[in-house]
Amino acid sequence: MGDKFPNYFNELVLKFVSWLDEAEQERLSSTVLHEACSYSLLAGGKRFRPALLLASADMLGIARERLRPLALAIEFIHTLSLIHDDLPCMDDDTLRRGKPTLHVKYDEATALLAGDLLFGRAFYQIAHSDLPAEVSRKAVELLGLAIIDLCDGQMMDLSASVEETPDSTDSASDRKRAAEELLSRHLKKTAALISLSVRLPSLFLTEAEDKEISLKLEEYGRSLGLLFQITDDIIEVTSDTQVLGKNADSDTRGGTPTYVSIFGLDGARQRADEAAANARQALSSFGEKADFLLWLVDYLLEREK
Ligand code: IPE
Ligand code: IPE
Ligand code: MG
Ligand code: MG
Repeated sequence: MGDKFPNYFNELVLKFVSWLDEAEQERLSSTVLHEACSYSLLAGGKRFRPALLLASADMLGIARERLRPLALAIEFIHTLSLIHDDLPCMDDDTLRRGKPTLHVKYDEATALLAGDLLFGRAFYQIAHSDLPAEVSRKAVELLGLAIIDLCDGQMMDLSASVEETPDSTDSASDRKRAAEELLSRHLKKTAALISLSVRLPSLFLTEAEDKEISLKLEEYGRSLGLLFQITDDIIEVTSDTQVLGKNADSDTRGGTPTYVSIFGLDGARQRADEAAANARQALSSFGEKADFLLWLVDYLLEREK
């Protein structure tokens, strides 16, 4: 197998980045806000969500070009969630994608408005495209729902505190409740957008095909998204700031319970394996067309950044 899948992943990322570069040529706002958005957008994230979207499109036989507005919208929304997540009133972080966070580079008001602007750009991108009307309508509905989940999950993150987290001296039912809360928080704040990235391409199929396939794609996406966040919790402990390009002590400092703080490193790894098994299971009927999406599961299990 060798480099086949890493190379393919890279190809999808490069395709997306070429679209992003083109989209950045378009001026829709004042120079300072445009530059602030570009600073965060072009800082060099992993582009995991748009690559996932394109991989899902390839698997379903949908031409990549048709996904352009949706891929941009997904990365705009993801990037704005990071800009806002780093603000002093949220996680108060100073480093993101290997560079000072937007509010450190500019100021808080600019970071707030650049984030808001990216919301606008995401939906403008979809409506101002030649997507079929029904695809566009449904994509906006699903993106709206994913953003609602993301906000709910972020709110849960803010109110979750390590002090209230049961440890081994607490009752089994308290620990079960904490585990359920953590699962629901991670599904909302991270898995919703990741799952949507896998699911959106099936909107281009016939209604009957979409109905049959979208549930499996969503199931895979939810498990993959959960795996993504569990491994994010793990690498925050096992990796370092230099490799991550963001502060490695963010959750500990903010007192937010994570898979590692609740279950320990081994417990978190065990749950990552369970999420990985569920993700693989969801794709079992796709045959070898799903090989890359299956490889992504292993990629996440092994990732260091
Ligand atoms: C970070 O997402 C936020 C989480 C949901 C854990 P990524 O790890 O995809 O961040 P970038 O896009 O590569 O910067
Ligand atoms: C990332 O959450 C933000 C969203 C998912 C919206 P975290 O706060 O857990 O992730 P990092 O560590 O800042 O990337
Ligand atoms: Mg956060
Ligand atoms: Mg954070």
